[in-house]
Amino acid sequence: MRRIELRGKLIVFEGLDFTGKSTQVEILAARLRETGFPVTMTREPGGTKLGETVRQVILSKEHMELLPLSELSLFITCRAQLSAEVIEPALAAGDVVVSSRYRLSSLAYQGYGRGLDLRLIEWMNEIATSGRRPDVTFLLDLSAEEALARRGEKRDRIEQEDLEFYRRVRTGYLDLTTGDKSVCKLDAAAPIDVLAGEVERFLDL
Ligand code: TYD
Repeated sequence: MRRIELRGKLIVFEGLDFTGKSTQVEILAARLRETGFPVTMTREPGGTKLGETVRQVILSKEHMELLPLSELSLFITCRAQLSAEVIEPALAAGDVVVSSRYRLSSLAYQGYGRGLDLRLIEWMNEIATSGRRPDVTFLLDLSAEEALARRGEKRDRIEQEDLEFYRRVRTGYLDLTTGDKSVCKLDAAAPIDVLAGEVERFLDL
């Protein structure tokens, strides 16, 4: 992708927990700003006032009763708010939007992980984002074993899921992105600077 084409584009980082998405979002945003691009950084769930409140509900272990469908609805709520309040206005203004997670997370986690119908999720995603798809997705791929080996003692409601759950989510990410030319799969076991270099090269920065 040529530099000039990056304005008004949505770049998303996806992958299991503990794969270093937020680090790569920050490095890329800094690099883009240095190069002179206006940048908006976002994260899901969250990134809006309502979204940050809902994030706390989703991740809190106070709410172990959350059903898969309730969980999906809350992620979709966050996505709809973020899309309308932040992402679409920023893209319209010509910013490069760099986001940690987007639609694919719900398909991988709530679809493959929790077993909800992928068509239902895709339909909700489509409505929540007004049909917006990422221009580029960087999938930080890591085995479930390696991802969980990076997990500390302090865990939120989702991070405390077992190895099988994370295996299903990883399979989901791989299945859902196979053959998609807008997806750049990276080995998240690589050092931070190596990954950042690969991201820059892919974007021709
Ligand atoms: P994230 O913010 O990436 O975690 P952290 O800030 O701890 O690195 O995401 C929070 C959790 O929400 C993560 O376990 C993945 C999960 N998630 C879903 O299950 N579905 C979704 O649609 C999204 C956006 C996140």
